[in-house]
Formats: sequence, C-alpha cells, structure tokens
Amino acid sequence: MRLHVVTFGCQMSVADGEELASPLKGRGFTAVAEPDAADAIVLNTCTVRQHAEDKALSLIGRLRAWKEERPERVLIVAGCAAERLGPWIQERFPYVDLVVGAKSIEDYPKVVEQALGARFDALAETAAAFPAAAAPDKPTGWQSPHSAFVTIMRGCNYSCSYCIVPAVRGRELYRPYETVMAEARAKVAMGAKEITLLGQTVNSWAADGLKFPDLLRRAGAIEGLERLRFESPHPHFVTDEMIAAMAQTPAVCEQLHLPAQSGSDRLLKLMRRNYDSASFLAKAQRLRAAIPRVEVTTDIIVGFPSETDDDFERTLDLVRALRPSWSYTFKYSPREGTESAGMPDDVPSAVKEERLARLNEVCDALTEEALAKRVTTTVEVLDETGGFGRTRDGFKVSWGGATAGKIVPVRIASTSKRILRGDS
Ligand code: 5AD
Ligand code: SF4
Repeated sequence: MRLHVVTFGCQMSVADGEELASPLKGRGFTAVAEPDAADAIVLNTCTVRQHAEDKALSLIGRLRAWKEERPERVLIVAGCAAERLGPWIQERFPYVDLVVGAKSIEDYPKVVEQALGARFDALAETAAAFPAAAAPDKPTGWQSPHSAFVTIMRGCNYSCSYCIVPAVRGRELYRPYETVMAEARAKVAMGAKEITLLGQTVNSWAADGLKFPDLLRRAGAIEGLERLRFESPHPHFVTDEMIAAMAQTPAVCEQLHLPAQSGSDRLLKLMRRNYDSASFLAKAQRLRAAIPRVEVTTDIIVGFPSETDDDFERTLDLVRALRPSWSYTFKYSPREGTESAGMPDDVPSAVKEERLARLNEVCDALTEEALAKRVTTTVEVLDETGGFGRTRDGFKVSWGGATAGKIVPVRIASTSKRILRGDS
C-alpha cells in the first residue's frame, strides 16, 4: 500500500508528517511522491493565515475525484486547520475518512487504528491490483535525505495578539532530554548529516534540569553530526547564554531566525511581543559580536490593525538596521478568536499590498546583496540531493555535483532566483 503525505505550513508541520505517516507505515504503507499512485493521503494543514487554510481546503475539495475513483482509498486530514475546523471539515467534505487536529498528535496512532484499522486490512487486498509507483518518496518529515528534523517541544505559552498557534497547538510541552538525544542519534545513524531541532518557540525548551543552551551543546557533540540548526526561536529566549552556546558549539550553524514582526514600538506593544525595536536590535548586535559570520533571517507582518505610514516606516528602519539575509513577509490576516481579531482590520487592502511591495523591495535588495557577496568565493555546502544543498549560513546552492550526503566546497559563479550557482 502506498501513502502520500501533503504538508502545508511551517517546518513543525513538515516534521509532524513523520508522526502522521508512522502508524500507516507500521501497517505496511510505503511513501510515494505522487497522489495518483497513493492508496492513502494524509493532508497536514496550516491555519496561521487565511490563505494557508484556504489552500488546504481547496485541496480537500479537489481530492473528491481521487476518492471517487477508488472509494476504498483513505483520506486523513490533520494539523492546525483540522484542529480549528474539525467538525466543519467533516461536514463539508463527508468523503474525508478521518479528521485529527494538531493537539491530538500524541493520541494519533490510537485514533487511526481505531477508526481505520479494518479499512487498512481491506485496502491491502485491493491495493495490490494497482500498478506500483515509479519512484519512492524522500523520508517523510525530513527536510531532505541527509537533513532531519527532531521535534523537541510543542505548543506555545505566549499570546501574540495576532497569532492562532496557541489556540490550535496548546500550551508548551517539552520532550525529555534522553528522548530528544536518542532520536537525534538514531537519525544521524540513518544518514542525517544535519539536524534541525524544532518547536514553536524552540529555545524555551527546558527539561530534566537542562535548558536549551545545554541541549545545543550536547546535541552538537553527537558523533557524526556535522550541522545543528533550530527553528523557530523566540527573541525572548535569545539570551547571552544561548548565544555563547551557539558560538562555542562547532556544529551549530551560523544562522538565526529572529522574527521581528514590526519595527514600531507602538505596534509591538499591541502585538504583545514583549520587546521594543531597540532591545530587539541590541540582541541581534550581541549575536553578531559573538558570531561575526552569522546570518539573520526574520518575519515581518504589514497592515496590523491601526498601522500608520509612520509605523510602517519604523518597520523599514528596523529591517535596514537588522539586515536580514532572508525575510518572510506577510500581510496581516485576522484569525478568529485571537485578540487582534477584536480590533478593526482597518488598513485597506490596497495599502497592505503597497506596504508589502515596498517592504519586499527593501528585503529583496538585502538578500541580493548577501547573495552577491558570495559570488567568486568558495562556500561549504551539504549536498542534500546531488548537486543541491545549503550553506551553513542558510543559502541554497545548486551546482553540477553528485556527492549527496557529503559536505563539499563549491565555488560560486553567479546567482539566480535567489540561489547560489556553482561553477562546476
Ligand atoms: N497574519 C499575518 N501573519 C501572521 N503570522 C502569524 N500570524 C499571522 C497573522 N494573523 C506570521 C508571523 C509569524 C509567521 C510564522 O507567520 O510573522 O512569525
Ligand atoms: Fe501553520 Fe502555525 Fe500550525 Fe505551523 S504551527 S502549521 S505555521 S498554524
């Protein structure tokens, strides 16, 4: 039997794909890259912005034909939008076999077995009659065959006023130290050269008397692990202790995601971010002083309720001061039940568009500048799939290599589409 996993949303969601696939794999499913070749599909949804949710819902709609073609096929809808809209999804798309929200991921194997165990037995008999898929998929829930995720915590204890994550993912839960280390070691033994520790606020992790900086040092020392990354850190826990652990652990990559959201102190307050632009920039400065080659990436929201031209200019100022090598920029999207959904969504759509375009111009120029600096230099790349990989500081590289799983030097000849192009 063949399983196809589709994921929307963040890296957490990608990593959850592994857990969502696991009970089906235990039942004899193998992963395939094509939905048409699949006997079961797991749809891992996101709800962080309306657009993300709409994409998942429209795919569920399109999968009606896939189900009708062979009604014994199994369609599971999981993740954050499933948490928010569970009963509605079941009602609106009655052909969905199982809806399991993000909060239920710990119970998921049990839920799947109870709801679908008998169906799998029947499916196993009919699936053999259909031709096998040509190519197997990459490992489910891994970034690439040589770069794995390890979830260390789930949930979020903050209450950023725009954010639906605490509602759909719940309070913070930390996985025990030994469990995390055992999973990381096992993934290295399976061929991972790079591990990304994951959590909604990954650096708030604390367990068994240890804090996140201790975990960085210890995971960084795993034999055979070349690179250690983590997503998504919360600025509050970017402490001097964490910066020191990054600087002193050779495996930790010179890259940090520091989501700013806005540069206006007034809006940062309304967003309940618990920092102002000056203290945020001071953190970035301390990081750069400790790790001179570090690259910083960020998230920015434009068009938050009541955002004025002046607020927006402060955001541009912050971006110019932070100089992120890559930025994820979003138009504000009110999410039902969040604090800011109670504020008037009063920035006209055209103004949001225009601000986003101006912001992207500034962000893109900074990215282009960072890319251009690498041209004619030789960078160290983890070849993830044979001629495609990433540098330690997070740039994508494409070249004519066939060294998957190896860390290799690549001389950069040019850049295009925000990818460094090697000259061999
Ligand atoms: N509207 C727009 N962007 C949002 N984000 C989170 N919630 C919203 C929202 N309601 C953005 C933030 C966050 C990233 C994952 O998504 O920038 O860091
Ligand atoms: Fe989307 Fe947030 Fe859920 Fe990730 S945690 S899938 S970004 S809603």
